[in-house]
Amino acid sequence: MKDFYNNSFSPEFIQQLKSKNDIISLISKYVHLEKKGKNFWGCCPFHHEKTPSFCVNEYDGFYHCFGCGESGDIISFLRKYEDLSYYEAISILAENANMKIPRLNDDEKYIKIKRTKERLLLILNLTREFYKNSIYNKDANIAQSYLKSRNTTRASLQNFELGFSPNFNDLPNFLAEKGFSPEEMKLAGVCEIGKNGKPYDFLFERLIFPIVNVQNDCIGFSGRDLSKNANVAKYKNTPTTMLFDKSKTVYAINLIKKLKKSFGLNNIIIVEGQFDVVSMHQAGFENTVACLGTALTKDHIKELKRFCDNIVLCFDGDEAGQKAILRALNTFEDYGDDVNVRVVRLPENLDPDEFLKKYGSQKLKDLIDNAVNPIIFKINNIKEKCNLNNPEGKVEFTKNALKILAGLKSNAEQDIYLGEIKKETNLSLDYLRRDLQNIKSLLQKNNFKNLENSEEIGDKISNNILENNLFGEIGGQSAIIKAERFVVASLLHHMSYAVFNDEVINSIQNPSLKKLVNILFQKYKNNEKFLVSYIFDLFDVDSEPNIKAVANFDFNIIQNPEEYFKECEYLIYSSSLKFKKDQLSKQYSQEISTDKKIEILKQINLLTKNIQNLEKQKQRNKN
Ligand code: CTP
Ligand code: MN
Repeated sequence: MKDFYNNSFSPEFIQQLKSKNDIISLISKYVHLEKKGKNFWGCCPFHHEKTPSFCVNEYDGFYHCFGCGESGDIISFLRKYEDLSYYEAISILAENANMKIPRLNDDEKYIKIKRTKERLLLILNLTREFYKNSIYNKDANIAQSYLKSRNTTRASLQNFELGFSPNFNDLPNFLAEKGFSPEEMKLAGVCEIGKNGKPYDFLFERLIFPIVNVQNDCIGFSGRDLSKNANVAKYKNTPTTMLFDKSKTVYAINLIKKLKKSFGLNNIIIVEGQFDVVSMHQAGFENTVACLGTALTKDHIKELKRFCDNIVLCFDGDEAGQKAILRALNTFEDYGDDVNVRVVRLPENLDPDEFLKKYGSQKLKDLIDNAVNPIIFKINNIKEKCNLNNPEGKVEFTKNALKILAGLKSNAEQDIYLGEIKKETNLSLDYLRRDLQNIKSLLQKNNFKNLENSEEIGDKISNNILENNLFGEIGGQSAIIKAERFVVASLLHHMSYAVFNDEVINSIQNPSLKKLVNILFQKYKNNEKFLVSYIFDLFDVDSEPNIKAVANFDFNIIQNPEEYFKECEYLIYSSSLKFKKDQLSKQYSQEISTDKKIEILKQINLLTKNIQNLEKQKQRNKN
């Protein structure tokens, strides 16, 4: 959501703007709200629902949907709902409030960037037209017959605006005629500059897939080689530019937006390649997108989540595709658990395009309908690699499958999947359960022997410790970050039990939470109020999961918050002391000078005492 006007207005102006625009009446223009308790509730405008889980907090000036996780202030509401830029949203709110938009210090700079971007967009959109038209020329035979050979329909040709680059020179000549300089062509990413100083089209003689954003602007291209020459890259993409970044761009997202507007959207299917997308659309799966030859990133997920929370991964059936799925699942886990992912396993190393050719769309629909959740996918993935007919294979499978289950939060959930392992191995549930327990405690002991959590915190946190650190393949949050989130959330939401404690605040490690808590503390010391909605001015909340988590913290899940708060404070403070001690021990072993060694030792002793005191104090509190 960040664009270059973010942070360019003074906090005073933004706060005044917010206080003069009532969030309830603004959102009421779009959503029917009813007051319940101290908050207003309605059906969320960002996902489909029949019972209200969209909550607006008038005092703190922010909204949050408990269904889909969207949250923000009036500015982000307008931006998301109306698809506006930051500046546009500010302008509307200023007009509502009869306020003048202040002249920006950096106006010149922004205007320059904006102008450049506009020029580049012009180049890209003209280039898209150029390529599109070129595919109908005589010398585009090679492209046309290629499309025929791949069964691409005329409708797809138009829908995906496929094109052709005839040679090195026609594109730069065309753009030069329109008044663009070689530097601009390079900046837009459509041409390279040759040794002779002249621009040339580096996608020459390729079939062209324009990459189009949700505003329907072309931001880059992908070109497929038609020469079948093994020495050239099969695909080439526009390099990173001011407008294009592969790691943030989802191919065919423009078509998803259209589809959602006209027919609604139950899920989004992600495939690996552009031709897979084309074939999928032709086969009726118009809810299909791709990430352009890169691993799936959190930015991709963010982009997809704007449209739908249900994702189906349908990557190539080969080994590489399966590995890519495991990586993608990790990214989803890191992102947070409010996206629902399922996985399709394509057989015989086929990709979706090949599968459709061989088996047809009904078969693929069956596979998609039966797509499995990530746990089952991971278990199946291990199963494929083990021979369950011999004892070693069985043990190997069981051990690795149990490791996956050890990362799950709830015992019930673990039990359900234990059933799956039982089915495969015929081992008794009793044994499996005990083995799982052993694995869990083993892992805890080995990695976290110095985190002497109380049982309560152990219960709440240790599962996440497992998730995070014990198996690289399992994402999630660590105990400390979870504790940090809870403490900062409690302070932010003015919970009665939450008091500022210098030592704890100085021990917070996550940079974003540290920044936030220091601002809170400063305000508190100056006796200034801090509304939750301010954090939307301070952070790009959507791309900072920790900030988002504290803004939307669900306090209902914490049973005894007062005590839990203390436990978390203890964990944060003690682990930072222990961390410092570890650092010093390392220094000690590397230091040569005896004097300095003694100095370090003194510090270590001091820290050890502090840690012991802390533990004693905790013991006393317990009794
Ligand atoms: N890719 C790329 N550069 C390459 C190879 C692949 O950017 N040199 C990207 C493309 O987006 C491609 C995707 O990775 O579509 C998947 O690669 P692969 O499975 O090898 O290609 P296919 O999609 O099967 O290619 P095609 O159907 O065109 O043969
Ligand atoms: Mn493929």
